[in-house]
This record gives sequence, structure tokens and C-alpha cells, in this order.
Amino acid sequence: MNLYLAVGRPHEDGYHPLATIFQAVDLYDTVTVRESDDLTLTMRGMGNGLPVDGSNLAIRAARALADFAGMEARADIQIDKRIPIAGGMAGGSADAAGTLVALDRLWNLALGTEQLLALGAQLGADVPFCLMGGTALGLGRGDQLTPLISRGLYSWLFVTQQRGLSTPQVFRRFDELRPDAPEIPEIERAFASALAQGDEEFVARYALNDLAEAALTLHAGARAVMEVCEAASLSAFVSGSGPTIAVHVPPGRDADSLSGHIRRSVPGTGCISAGGPVAGASVI
Ligand code: C5P
Repeated sequence: MNLYLAVGRPHEDGYHPLATIFQAVDLYDTVTVRESDDLTLTMRGMGNGLPVDGSNLAIRAARALADFAGMEARADIQIDKRIPIAGGMAGGSADAAGTLVALDRLWNLALGTEQLLALGAQLGADVPFCLMGGTALGLGRGDQLTPLISRGLYSWLFVTQQRGLSTPQVFRRFDELRPDAPEIPEIERAFASALAQGDEEFVARYALNDLAEAALTLHAGARAVMEVCEAASLSAFVSGSGPTIAVHVPPGRDADSLSGHIRRSVPGTGCISAGGPVAGASVI
């Protein structure tokens, strides 16, 4: 998730400069790889019905890794999806990261972190962080990472929607709404120090997402969730490019009752409990 997402004016290649703070949470897709004569992909769980051809980031990850190693991409990949699709939670990037580390092991490549991060960056801006995990500052497209000090453990409810949002569409909407966006976005110093000090309440309250307005104007369901959270004095913000909303579960509060309240108030939503920081994609 992005605890902080400051977005600048797009470059000529269409990508936006970011200053973001990522924190990995314990919501996982499971990537299983087996030897095979071809390259095949099966999506299970919530991923049932997603494309399994060369447009899928996991297939692109397998091909990129095989190209780099100078070998044929041969593997049977199976992905069990739990991360919401088109939800602003980097689920596709997590699958690409999982595929890279799993195939690195299956094919006995033993690539170093630097090489995997570089391959990941070619696949998508969020893939390097999905490999790294923990808490990190992301600059550039969000792929130039520096680990950050973060104290404490955070609990969140991720409120999901039936209809997702397209990330490029949210960025385009941002461009319409924010023609005055800065050339170089920045992180508020007070926010970074609250994170380093473990000031959970401050972090949850001042989490910033410059894409929020764009995502909320495109999604009435996400707007409704934000209104319910405001009325209940809960700290909530748009996750990534939305429409998922991250709701902070303060220490001592019962996540189940919060989830029941939100789901009853905004029909059609789902709630997933997750916390962080946790490690990035790893072989189990
Ligand atoms: O890199 P990735 O494929 O995950 O990005 C998806 C889309 O999000 C891009 O095609 C682009 O439209 C938008 N994006 C952006 N600026 C970024 C990251 C993503 O405009 N820093």
C-alpha cells in the first residue's frame, strides 16, 4: 500500500514523477511454479477469468527473466488471487514479483536482488517494491527505492468494490484536475518523522494520496465509503489509484465490527483485514 503518494506533472513519456512511501501488508497472492515444456498460466480464486496470455504481467515476468538468463521460458505458473483486482493494491505487480522469485528458484538462476529489481522495474513501476517489501521511499516512477525506518505495526481494513478502476484512467483524471501539479513532488518531513517514531495516529490521519480526488470522482462506491468513515471519525484514504479504501483500525478497536458497519452502510463492498509492514515476495 502507499501510505503517502505525492504525484507531479507527467513527463513526455506519460509517466508521472512520484514521491511515495510504500508499506507492504500481509495480503498475499500465492504463485506456484512447476517445470513444463511450455509457458502456461492458470489463475485461481478471484483471478478466475483474468487473461492468461502474454498480456498478463506474470507471463511477461517469466519471459523477461528467461530472456535475461538466455533460456527458453518453460514453466507452469499457477496464481491463487486474494489481492483485489484493479483495486489500487498492486496485485498484478505482486504476481510479477512472485513469479520472478519463484522462477529464479525453479530455474536455479540465483540472481541477486539488484538484478531482480532491475527486471521488475521494466515490468511495472510497483514491481520493485513488491520484491523489496517492508517500508520504502519510492521516487521516479515509484521504482527508485530507498528503505525507510518505520516503527510499529499498522492494522488496516481494505474496503473493496465490485467495480475496479483503471490506473491509467485515474492518472489521466488527475492531469485534468491538477494542471498545477508540481514538477517534483515531495514527502512532508513531519510525515516521515511520524513514521520513524511510530506515531500511528498521525500516520493514519495524515496519509496523503494525490490520486484520491481523481479516483473518488470516478467511483461513487469509493466516495460512499469515505463518507461513512468520516461520519464514524475513522482515518481512511484511497489506496493507490483506488477504488479500494484503506481504513485504519486503531489499537483496541475490533476490525470485525468496523467491517460490519462499513459493509452494511455501503452495499456491494467487501472488507479485507491486513497489517504491516511485512517482507516482500518470497519463496515458501
Ligand atoms: O508501471 P505500471 O504499468 O504499473 O503503470 C500503469 C499505468 O499507470 C501507466 O501506464 C501510467 O498510465 C500510469 N502511471 C503513471 N505514472 C507512474 C506510474 C504509473 O502515469 N509513476
